[in-house]
Amino acid sequence: MAFELPKLNYATDALEPHIDAKTMEIHHGKHHQGYTTKLNNAVEGTDLEGKTIENILLNLDLENKAVRNNGGGFYNHRLFWEVMTPNGGGLPTGDLADAINASFGSFESFKDKFSTAAKGQFGSGWAWLCVHEGGKLDVCGTPNQDNPLMPGVGCGGTPVLGLDVWEHAYYLNYQNRRPDYVEAFFNVINWEEVSKRYAEGK
Ligand SMILES: [Fe+2]
Repeated sequence: MAFELPKLNYATDALEPHIDAKTMEIHHGKHHQGYTTKLNNAVEGTDLEGKTIENILLNLDLENKAVRNNGGGFYNHRLFWEVMTPNGGGLPTGDLADAINASFGSFESFKDKFSTAAKGQFGSGWAWLCVHEGGKLDVCGTPNQDNPLMPGVGCGGTPVLGLDVWEHAYYLNYQNRRPDYVEAFFNVINWEEVSKRYAEGK
């Protein structure tokens, strides 16, 4: 079964004004489709064919650049679409809120650390919130399409929230103002989905 581009759970204009429709159309329909197609080409006929993307990334040979870049791109964007929602934002609740307070001291302190990772990532990459076994949370950044499931990459653990800081994610609307895009992202975070991923990953 080849990897397929996942459908969005909302219309491409649903995240406006924070993320514009044109960016969503190109980002999902062209960029994510591109990673998906190239991932399928890279695993076809190899012993990776038929494995889950999580399994592939957790056991990745980092020298396999085609799978590293396109497998990362496939997984990262699938997570990214799911951790956003129209009318999102606000504050996390329940166990996730408790874990954020326990790990970072406060939500504001978490937000500051995550935003710093996103704004400080040189060139293209991602900012992550990850859960470790036992429930502790950590923030890190990764270059290109790397992610913390890959061996020795980022902060380890399981990503529960990710922010794409490639220019293709924001340039049409924000040009060079990456900090404004990072701030806007907090208005569309789907904390319910992040909570679900936290419960599964801890
Ligand atoms: Fe992207």
